[in-house]
Amino acid sequence: MKFFIDTANLAQIKEAHELGVLDGVTTNPSLMAKEGISGVENQHKHYVEICNLVQGDVSAEVIATDYEGMIREGKELVALHPNIVVKVPCIADGIRAIKYFSSNGIRTNCTLVFSTGQALLAAKAGATYVSPFVGRLDDVSENGVALVGEIVEMYRYYDYPTQVLAASIRHTRHIIQCVEVGADVATCPLSAIKGLLKHPLTDSGLAQFLADYKKVNG
Ligand code: G3P
Repeated sequence: MKFFIDTANLAQIKEAHELGVLDGVTTNPSLMAKEGISGVENQHKHYVEICNLVQGDVSAEVIATDYEGMIREGKELVALHPNIVVKVPCIADGIRAIKYFSSNGIRTNCTLVFSTGQALLAAKAGATYVSPFVGRLDDVSENGVALVGEIVEMYRYYDYPTQVLAASIRHTRHIIQCVEVGADVATCPLSAIKGLLKHPLTDSGLAQFLADYKKVNG
């Protein structure tokens, strides 16, 4: 399973990269706004900085919601760096744009996916990644992880190459659940990635090893 970090924060991206387990980055307009990055020029500069920090795909989202606008923005985004993947919302013009991009060798991440039907359309249009939003489904009493599992099964059954990128991951347990249903990628906050490390028996075991070492070595 690949790990992406879901942030536009350079320090967090650097920390995850230095851990040695990072395969890519996803961003969205809210995450960019959280970092206070405004204006197309600054946004483009920021995407390039992210690409220079990590080896792996970096999803950059279009703001346009019409077909022509998405195509124009997507072409600008992929021209910034070879690792950019164009993130496109799962709406009718978005599916059309994904079809255009996939026919022209441009990789895409179909975002804001909340149903198997949406994921089917994204795969048929040739999306590289599809992003079901796990946490936001859980927020409205639906089962986000179950949707990830359904999409994985559908893609395997029909042999779609689209990778299932579990998004809106809120905590460590979500990551483990996505592993259990076979997600290709989980894009996570840094806290959830670091949470995978935590176990009290590791901490107490290490403390014991060091205490025993000290007894005979001073
Ligand atoms: O990858 C999508 C993600 O950023 C949304 O997460 O926590 O805002 O639902 P959240």
